[in-house]
Amino acid sequence: MKQKSVFVCQNCGYQSPKWLGQCPSCGQWNTMVETTLSSPSPSSRKKVSPAKAVTLKEINTSGREKRVSTGWEEMDRVLGGGMVKGQAVLFAGEPGIGKSTLLTQLSLNLVKNNHSVVYLCGEESPQQVSLRIRRLSPSFSSVSGLFLLPEVDVDAVLAFLENQSPPPSLVVIDSVQTITTQDLTGVAGSVGQVRECSHRLISWAKKAQVPIFLIGHITKEGNIAGPKVLEHAVDTVIYFEGERRQDLRLLRAVKNRFGATDEVGIFKMTQKGLVPLKESFLGGELDKPRVGSALTVVNEGSRMILVEIQALVTQTFTPLPRRIITGLERNRTEMLLAVCQKQLRLPLFKYDVFVNVAGGLKINEPAADLAVCAAVISSYKNKPLPLKSCFVGEVSLLGEIFPVGQMEKRKKIAQKRGILQFFTGKNLKKLLLPLF
Ligand code: TYD
Ligand code: MG
Repeated sequence: MKQKSVFVCQNCGYQSPKWLGQCPSCGQWNTMVETTLSSPSPSSRKKVSPAKAVTLKEINTSGREKRVSTGWEEMDRVLGGGMVKGQAVLFAGEPGIGKSTLLTQLSLNLVKNNHSVVYLCGEESPQQVSLRIRRLSPSFSSVSGLFLLPEVDVDAVLAFLENQSPPPSLVVIDSVQTITTQDLTGVAGSVGQVRECSHRLISWAKKAQVPIFLIGHITKEGNIAGPKVLEHAVDTVIYFEGERRQDLRLLRAVKNRFGATDEVGIFKMTQKGLVPLKESFLGGELDKPRVGSALTVVNEGSRMILVEIQALVTQTFTPLPRRIITGLERNRTEMLLAVCQKQLRLPLFKYDVFVNVAGGLKINEPAADLAVCAAVISSYKNKPLPLKSCFVGEVSLLGEIFPVGQMEKRKKIAQKRGILQFFTGKNLKKLLLPLF
């Protein structure tokens, strides 16, 4: 059957044989997406057999979904306990953040356990990938279970996969923006190509019961150019994020049919590739008094992390003092600065304030409020906070301190890292001012 393509408006369903900027039917712009059209002859339509439904009793649940470990606890947890057969994962992140590095390492982890992996190299040549492997893991440069596939035609890839017997344990597509099918005229990376090619790969993965990772680049603004259209088609969407200049990398599931979405996996980019971060501390030296530094314990997924908040308060030379905030919510931090100004009587309107979270972590729970205030006052007074102390609590507009959840767990983590004093209380002024 000859496949033809049409451009379909994603808003109203209008079809056109050519690409149009504006849909003539509904008037929307940039909604025409190329789609394959297989026109079955009327006779073949008649042969359709009725669909079958099953009752719950008929479904075999005795051997609950078996999970394959990725070789890293950090990643298994984000997936919900490992990879599930036939699971389609969209692995999204900014260019250069380390997606290829992480997934080559994951492939090596599987190969080490006698699995076979097919890695589609659409962006780099097999030579480049093999150079990386040699550098990451010299002993694995001659392994046989890893198949590097330098092919971007999705139908050729599917033909290769169908010939593999037994099928591989994992397929990695690096990346969805490079694969194409000749059934469509669009260029690689266009919405139509990304969607059609990925759908074909995902349906193969479901049929063959093989987990598949689809790498997708996202832009700085956070929208996955193209791959966004895949979010509903895959089982799991994982974002790989971090500041490129810093070495901390976070794995975050934003959708997961096979697990929770509040887990994070933490990795560090090193000379030897990505290393799971086991220790629960991010920050500078704990043994030296440091002005403008306050420690706190924040909750990330099911983990607690002791993290350093740094503040710098300096005299301003502009009519509008600067507020440079990294790793914390901007509005919340500005609110805390206003509370410091009013309750602690810090004339911050005359000062530029810089607040930063060590290691590149992004904090989005109010438990760090108290530490932000403590770091700011420490920098303003140019005096360090007590050595080996930690500040946990939510600060209200009125300068009250509210306790946050899981205090015991937070204290335990802090004690483990040698913290001697754990500050929390009821009133910001009464707690912080006596320290200076
Ligand atoms: P890469 O995996 O190619 O990024 P992506 O596939 O997301 O575009 O990672 C590229 C960056 O990672 C590159 O700037 C160098 C850095 N890197 C390391 O720091 N250590 C390593 O061992 C490797 C392989 C890469
Ligand atoms: Mg890459």
